[in-house]
Amino acid sequence: MSSKNLDFGTFAQDVMLGLSASPKSLPSKYFYNAKGDKLFQKIMAMPEYYLTKKEFEIFETQYELILDPILNLDQPFNLVELGAGDGLKTKILLKYLKSRNADFEYFPIDFSGSVLQELEESLKDEFPDLSVTCLEDTYRGSLVKRLWDNGKPNLILFLGSNLGNFSQEEAFDILDHLRIGAAHGDFVLIGIDLKKDPQTILDAYHDPEGITRDFNLNLLDRINQELDGDIDLNTFKHWPCYDPISGECRSYLVSLKKQKINLKALDQSFDFEAFESVFTEISKKYSLKEIEQFAEKGGFESVQNFTDSENYFADVLWRRK
Ligand code: TRP
Repeated sequence: MSSKNLDFGTFAQDVMLGLSASPKSLPSKYFYNAKGDKLFQKIMAMPEYYLTKKEFEIFETQYELILDPILNLDQPFNLVELGAGDGLKTKILLKYLKSRNADFEYFPIDFSGSVLQELEESLKDEFPDLSVTCLEDTYRGSLVKRLWDNGKPNLILFLGSNLGNFSQEEAFDILDHLRIGAAHGDFVLIGIDLKKDPQTILDAYHDPEGITRDFNLNLLDRINQELDGDIDLNTFKHWPCYDPISGECRSYLVSLKKQKINLKALDQSFDFEAFESVFTEISKKYSLKEIEQFAEKGGFESVQNFTDSENYFADVLWRRK
């Protein structure tokens, strides 16, 4: 690898590393460019994708209970959100906090600049008086830098299936970062997709319309666009599978034939055997018992678990010891 190639930046480096590895993989954070963000919005609107709807239900029905502990401190605080996305669920909290005249600042953090920009604009419209500081960063990067730190207590939101997008080992590392990012007494609210009927889970990652397929394949499209690749998307198949013991739903892109792909911008090519696969994303499901053990191991005490009416999803509130 010449040093010239490294100048292309992290996406190029990660693609090269991932496609050179065995088995091949691509980091899921690259799903979320402008096109991927749009596709993910469509996924969230699909009937099969219960995750967002269930978490939304939790927020709509239990926002008071969720916010009670931080409001009961009776001091100004920060609302920090890792992976803020479109902020739809958080706006429920913002509305309630506003109605209570709470003194707080909102720090949405996202890896996608385009998502943050949209969020900032919609917040200006809907909450003109709210003090908002957008931070474009990764989870770990932001938790180490703690740019929100102004001495006030924090409620750190880590919603959706964000934690689920890490393997057990990586999730422990994220928890370590959360412990570093949170001060003693800070609250953390984490969204967790719960173990349930495996068919329900699989359907959420394999819709008949092919939206999830397009979303997964967008990684290859992005390689074509940004690294001048010649990948024929029709030669790859979207393949999700769910293991009910580990709770891992893993998505793959399977090459349907032996082929060579060329990334002209990098002057590199990669060989695929027939049916060789690229691992793209993990979406891990937990039981509430596993989550309690997580809190304990991570240096947090569990305050309360909020679940939807079908127990599909949970938002767990922890306090940093
Ligand atoms: N982070 C989302 C999730 O784990 C992303 C996602 C939804 C996804 N559907 C997908 C990723 C299909 C790959 C393939 O739920």
